[in-house]
Amino acid sequence: MFGFFRKNKQSHVVTGNLSCLGVDMHSHLLPGIDDGSPDVETSIRLIRGMMQNGYRKFITTPHVYPDLYPNTKETILKAHALLNEHLKEAQLDVEIVPAAEYFIDEQFVDLIDQRDQLLPIHQNWILVEISFLAPPQEFSQVLFKLFTEGYQPVLAHPERYSYYHHRKEKYHQLKDQGCLLQVNLLSLLGYYGKNVQEIARYLVKEQLVDLIGSDLHHDRHLEAMAHPSLWAEVNRIMKSGSILNPTL
Ligand SMILES: [Fe+2]
Repeated sequence: MFGFFRKNKQSHVVTGNLSCLGVDMHSHLLPGIDDGSPDVETSIRLIRGMMQNGYRKFITTPHVYPDLYPNTKETILKAHALLNEHLKEAQLDVEIVPAAEYFIDEQFVDLIDQRDQLLPIHQNWILVEISFLAPPQEFSQVLFKLFTEGYQPVLAHPERYSYYHHRKEKYHQLKDQGCLLQVNLLSLLGYYGKNVQEIARYLVKEQLVDLIGSDLHHDRHLEAMAHPSLWAEVNRIMKSGSILNPTL
């Protein structure tokens, strides 16, 4: 049906779904520990749906946000073990990696100091998010601290922080500082609104995007993802060769 998407004239293989990404590195699929999947059954249903969209590996990133979701390495590993146990029972052969999405605040600075408490998404890469309301004070200092402690910060969904929409130079500054940028898949589709979509496309055009994450929380995200125009756009973006998901 979507034969058009399968191959183009260059060597890049174009797929009729999201298998060109293969690895998702931002999701809330671990059961019952944040505002994502509430239970194991939901997690398994969402994972099956993601696999039907072409994903084969999931780096799950529950929120670590002390005021709302006071997760620790321990709570995350426990939820991961529980999910893995049920995936095995369901005979679903899929790799799930436990990591986290850290909210930048004072308590995160303390966590950086307790070295072995951070869960990276890959090697030394730490996924961080910031407030949607206002830029965090001392953001640059926190990034600098991560670098000096040997970590590679990855900023989650930079296109969703509206206070940067009219300060586009900020995105270039973050890249120049060495931060990796992760755009949300559904931002490209306009799921979070027109402005967010425009900024996501700007970041792609300026080649500032390193990673694309689903940031999947629930069924509505999954339903929105099954969209051929989104698949085509992702396949186009992948041709740039700068998106790192398949290497994770
Ligand atoms: Fe997230």
